Amino acid sequence: MKKTVLDYTLKIRLPIVLFVIALSFVITFYVSRPERDGIGYAPEQPIKFSHKLHAGDMAIDCQYCHTGVAKGRHALVPSVNICMNCHTVARKNKPEIIKLTEYYEQDKPLPWKRIHKVPQYAYFNHSVHVNKGIQCISCHGDVAQMEVVSQVHGFTMTACLDCHRNPMAQIDYLEKINKGPDNCSACHR
Ligand code: HEC
Ligand code: HEC
Ligand code: HEC
Ligand code: HEC
Ligand code: HEC
Repeated sequence: MKKTVLDYTLKIRLPIVLFVIALSFVITFYVSRPERDGIGYAPEQPIKFSHKLHAGDMAIDCQYCHTGVAKGRHALVPSVNICMNCHTVARKNKPEIIKLTEYYEQDKPLPWKRIHKVPQYAYFNHSVHVNKGIQCISCHGDVAQMEVVSQVHGFTMTACLDCHRNPMAQIDYLEKINKGPDNCSACHR
């Protein structure tokens, strides 16, 4: 029997239609994910700064740049001054470093995009965790191997509580660690 135009359109269009539907599911799932638990969120940054190069290959200590991590609530992201300790000399003719130097000379802060964030109504403090020996890797993954930082673990309430109730499951490199609080007022003050 001779094939009609309709047969052809169905044969070609149907797979395309199904593909588009599947694709839009995948896209909505992954794109909207950061709104839900943040996992996989890795925004493009104003300067192509590589943790793998600086914290991995060159082994610069995390706290050289994230100076607040053992002192208080926030780890802090370094100001351009810290970069310029090295980059007034290192690679100063490279395009990304020229861009960096412009921020420095115009005294403008770098508009780094925030990746990890708990909402205002929840209280998190770096120092209480870090000073007990909990390593960055337990909450942020292996940042020293990342070209671009990406969120590895979610910080939903369940994620905080999973570790608080059974910390040894996630922090097995420590001999001993107290449980974290699970009363509401510890995190909602
Ligand atoms: C030379 C400075 C420098 C060093 C060393 C460094 N960082 Fe960073 N870090 C940055 C800068 C700049 C950003 C913001 C840009 C970005 O996200 O890549 C950042 C961002 C981050 C973020 C994401 C912050 C957010 O917005 O949520 C994490 C997590 C982080 N660093 C962890 C680490 C860890 C862990 C180490 C050590 C293994 C480390 N950093 C070493 C400079 C540094
Ligand atoms: C302790 C010194 C040091 C500090 C601090 C430092 N860097 Fe670097 N950075 C280097 C060196 C050295 C290289 C070149 C490494 C190589 O290519 O082997 C480099 C390379 C780079 C490059 C790649 C340049 C290219 O295209 O080759 C960028 C971008 C960069 N750094 C950005 C930053 C930013 C942004 C900061 C601050 C958050 C920073 N660096 C802090 C030493 C440093
Ligand atoms: C117990 C889990 C945990 C550990 C351990 C931890 N972080 Fe974080 N980190 C978080 C959470 C949660 C946030 C989001 C905080 C917020 O929104 O107030 C965050 C945010 C950040 C940020 C974004 C800026 C800021 O100040 O909030 C940076 C940078 C960062 N962490 C770096 C580090 C480094 C470096 C270490 C290790 C020295 C580390 N973190 C250890 C959970 C952790
Ligand atoms: C990897 C394990 C781990 C994760 C993830 C974690 N915590 Fe903790 N947290 C602990 C441990 C262990 C303690 C208890 C430390 C101690 O007192 O010895 C603690 C203590 C605390 C305290 C009590 C300290 C104080 O200031 O009174 C608060 C509040 C807290 N965590 C909030 C959070 C929040 C909010 C999150 C999620 C965004 C979170 N934690 C994620 C392990 C974790
Ligand atoms: C270890 C810290 C921690 C403890 C303890 C905790 N919460 Fe939360 N809670 C959080 C964090 C972090 C969020 C934000 C979650 C997110 O961004 O998805 C949150 C979110 C919430 C929300 C907003 C809705 C939601 O589920 O996201 C409510 C309501 C809430 N908590 C109530 C409580 C109550 C009631 C208790 C006591 C039974 C409690 N929390 C104990 C950390 C905690």
